[in-house]
Amino acid sequence: MKRLLASFLVTTAMTGAAAADDLRDAALDFFQPLPSTVPQIADNRVTPEKIALGKSLFFDPRLSASGVFSCYSCHNLATGGDDNQETSIGHGWQKGPRNSPTVLNAVLNEAQFWDGRANDLKAQAKGPIQAGVEMANTPENVVLTLNSMTDYVAWFNAAFPDDAEPVSFDNMARAIEAFEATLITPAPFDAFLNGDDMALTEMERAGLELFMDKGCIACHSGVNVGGEGYHPFGLIEKPGADILPVGDKGRFAVTDTADDEYVFRAAPLRNVAVTAPYFHSGKVWDLKVAVQIMAESQLGEELADEEADQLVAFLDTLTGTVPEVTVPVLPTETAATPRPTA
Ligand code: HEM
Ligand code: HEM
Repeated sequence: MKRLLASFLVTTAMTGAAAADDLRDAALDFFQPLPSTVPQIADNRVTPEKIALGKSLFFDPRLSASGVFSCYSCHNLATGGDDNQETSIGHGWQKGPRNSPTVLNAVLNEAQFWDGRANDLKAQAKGPIQAGVEMANTPENVVLTLNSMTDYVAWFNAAFPDDAEPVSFDNMARAIEAFEATLITPAPFDAFLNGDDMALTEMERAGLELFMDKGCIACHSGVNVGGEGYHPFGLIEKPGADILPVGDKGRFAVTDTADDEYVFRAAPLRNVAVTAPYFHSGKVWDLKVAVQIMAESQLGEELADEEADQLVAFLDTLTGTVPEVTVPVLPTETAATPRPTA
C-alpha cells in the first residue's frame, strides 16, 4: 500500500503540493532518519574508551611521517568534515587525485571511498596513513610512535582490555572507526521524516517531491541519501573530461571488470551543501551546477531553473548539526618518539 502511494505521489508530483504527511509517507519508502544513538558496529563494539582514543588519533599529526598531517587536515569538522579543496593536499604538499569526502555520517555508508574499495571505516583508516600522497607513514612507525608515549599505551589498554597486544595498527583503526561513528548530524530532513510538518518549507518540500519524481532516488536513497550502490558517472551522457577526468576509471580499479569503467559509488548527500567542491574530481563548486550536471548525465534531463533551485533547497535540508567535539590534548612526545621526516 505504502509503495502504491509512493509511486502515485512520484508520478503525480508537481501537480499540486502533497500534504506533508502524504509526502512523508512516500519519502519513508526511500529514506530513513538518522539513528538517535551512536550506531553499533558489528565487529567493533563502540565504547567510551575507544571513542576517546579514536578522537585523539583523529587529531594527531604524528600519525603521518612528516608530523604535519592528521585525519583532521583533510576532514576538518569545522568545515563540513572535508577540506574544501578540489583534490586534497598531503605529504610534501602533493596534490592527490581525488576530492576528500566528508567523514560526517560516513559510518552509515555501505562502503568507503568514491569507488567503495574499503568495506568499512576501520579498513579505510589504514589507507591514508600509508598513502604516499597523504600521510606517507608505515604501520611499524605508527606503532613505534604510539608505544613511545605512556598515555597512549594506557589509553589503548583501556580501550582494548582483552587484547594481548592492545597497541597495534589494527586497534588504531578500530578506535578511529569508533570515534567516527559518533559523527552523526541530525538535519531538518530527519525532523520532517520523524513527523515535524514544519521542518521543511514549501520550497524544500517541492524539492523533495522533485527528487523522488525525477528519479534521483534511484541512486540517492537510504539513511545517507546515497553512499550505497555503484553507477556509471554519465549513465545517459558522459560529462566532459574537465569534470570526469579520463584517467580515473573509478570502480574498474577495484573489480578489473570492463563494465565498471567510470562507475562510482552514489555519493552520500547529507551535508552536501557545505562540502563543495563536488564530484570525485572536485571540479564543480556550485551545488546548483552539480545538480544540473547530475540531471543531464544520469537522467538525460535538462532541469528548468526553478526545478534546480527547488532541488538545491531540498539538499540544504540535509545539512545537519555537527556534534560538539572538543579539541583533545595529545600525549607529549618522548625521546623514543620517531622524529618527523621530510
Ligand atoms: C576518504 C577518513 C586522512 C583525504 C576518506 C573517507 C573517510 C576518511 C571515512 C571515506 C569517506 C567516504 O567514502 O564517503 C580519514 C581518516 C584519516 C584520513 C580517519 C586519518 C587516518 C586523510 C588525509 C587526507 C585525506 C590526511 C588528505 C591528505 C581523503 C581523500 C579521500 C578520503 C582524497 C577520497 C579518496 C578516494 O576515494 O580514493 N577519508 N581520512 N584523508 N580522504 Fe580521508
Ligand atoms: C554525485 C545529486 C541523480 C549517481 C552527486 C552529487 C550530487 C548529486 C549533488 C555530488 C556529491 C558530492 O560531490 O559530494 C543528484 C541529484 C540527482 C541525482 C539532484 C537527480 C536530479 C543521480 C542518479 C544516479 C546518480 C539517477 C545514478 C544513476 C551519482 C554518482 C555520484 C553522484 C555515481 C558520484 C559521481 C562522482 O564520481 O563524482 N549526485 N544526483 N545520481 N551521483 Fe547523483
